[in-house]
Amino acid sequence: MQQMWTDIDHYIDSHLIPNDPILTQTLKHTAERGFPDHLAVAPNQGMLLQMLIQMNKCKRILELGTFAAYSTLWLARALPEDGYILTIEGRDTHAALGQENIDAAKLPQTIDLKVGRAADLLRALPEDTEAFDFIFIDADKQSYPEYLELSLNLSHSGTIIVLDNVIRSGAILDQNNVKPSIEGIRQMFEALSNHPRILSCTALQTVGSKGHDGFALAIVK
Ligand code: DHB
Ligand code: MG
Repeated sequence: MQQMWTDIDHYIDSHLIPNDPILTQTLKHTAERGFPDHLAVAPNQGMLLQMLIQMNKCKRILELGTFAAYSTLWLARALPEDGYILTIEGRDTHAALGQENIDAAKLPQTIDLKVGRAADLLRALPEDTEAFDFIFIDADKQSYPEYLELSLNLSHSGTIIVLDNVIRSGAILDQNNVKPSIEGIRQMFEALSNHPRILSCTALQTVGSKGHDGFALAIVK
């Protein structure tokens, strides 16, 4: 099935996703530097994130897990010129690559890339940090429950939270799989269910060029 999913993603992209030289260059540079492409969102997924931001006229975005900054640049493309993104990356090698791609993009929006453990950096933000309008959680899956709670502390009523990779080819249902990353996703589902601070949430499975995975989406009460 994988080949068909990939072919259909290419069909979708060729019809509906306009070519953006900056995003194309980001993927090219990432591949040239020898980094894998399976960690990045697919183009049609990047467009979905962009549309959620546009629908809600978001101006301040928080992203956990920058990697090559491909998703970061999709998010930035959705923002007005005075928009702001704080993106956090835990791995030095990924952060260096992400910064190169952000610099090369030369976008007008402010993109602040911080390197370190996301939970520590979020806790260290100034007390008066303005809430974010849109939060994309895409860092280490083990910490998703913690990232969700920290994100809620940086949210206002109506903030949208999107969490990537919440299905992992169905590994979440495999009781023999007790990897911290998979346990983290299961705990995230537990936390989302009947959370007092969440107005509504859902999760969607996706298939495509990145395999079988999915997004969780939540709106803050
Ligand atoms: C992995 C992480 C991601 O954020 C992703 O989108 C795909 C894969 C991973 O760690 O394997
Ligand atoms: Mg991801």
